[in-house]
Amino acid sequence: MKRLLFVLTSVFCLCSCTKKVVLAETASKQAEAAVTPQISNPEIEKLGRVLSSMTERCKSAIPNGNPEEFLADLHKVLKEEELNHRDDDVDLLYLIDKKHNIGSDYVPKDLKPVKNNDLWNVSRNDLSLRPEAYSALENLSRAALNDGIKLMISSTYRSYKYQEGLFYRYVKQDGVELAERYSARPGTSQHQLGVAVDFGSITDDWGDTKMGQWVYNHAADYGWSLSFPRGYEDVTGYMWECWHFRYIGVEACQFQKKWFSDVQQFMLEFVDVWKKSE
Ligand code: DAL
Ligand code: ZN
Repeated sequence: MKRLLFVLTSVFCLCSCTKKVVLAETASKQAEAAVTPQISNPEIEKLGRVLSSMTERCKSAIPNGNPEEFLADLHKVLKEEELNHRDDDVDLLYLIDKKHNIGSDYVPKDLKPVKNNDLWNVSRNDLSLRPEAYSALENLSRAALNDGIKLMISSTYRSYKYQEGLFYRYVKQDGVELAERYSARPGTSQHQLGVAVDFGSITDDWGDTKMGQWVYNHAADYGWSLSFPRGYEDVTGYMWECWHFRYIGVEACQFQKKWFSDVQQFMLEFVDVWKKSE
């Protein structure tokens, strides 16, 4: 079977570039004749529309590739999210960032307390996570223990009120401009979703410790993604945080790595637009 190989970026300009429309149309026809029966041509067209609406920085992070393969990977991610879906709560890939505020009323359902146990140590006694993130933390911690490392959990779910207190304390301490580079305004923190964990000492040095290195190298295998990588402050809105990981699922971590230069923000923005598009 002849696989259709063409540059994903050729579908970016579906609406604006005639030459590329032809390219995309040809690609679509070949795709139809090819394999992957579960992926329809309208999906390839939708992919073109969605990708063309992404930022230039995001587009440039996406490697050349086969749109069918991209869509097959995307569907695995959406399936994983569906399996984790809870009717009474937001999706696991819910986009929350400087432009997307979840509001003061949102509290995750069925938060599970995170206490000291055989798998991990905690630095305080009022920690909790969404159940899916709790299970994923158990898996991650078990693997770490197998390698002789007991993880230290330092921050998990934070209520809107708590984040508000934290943010304005930092503003007082460092001024608003600097505070905004490392602390989320209330309503915009991944911690409010109950799916984010800060590990260890919450300092840059932690990234070089045995624990920090282990988490960096293995987190994705258990569905945990580094939210604020080094060199992407203009994309994420925050300075590098080696300690802050968000649970997104194993498929989503793979998708992020393969198609979005391993930048969570790009992947979540794409999924958000994809879900909102016809
Ligand atoms: N430190 C991260 C950005 C937060 O406050 O959620
Ligand atoms: Zn954090």
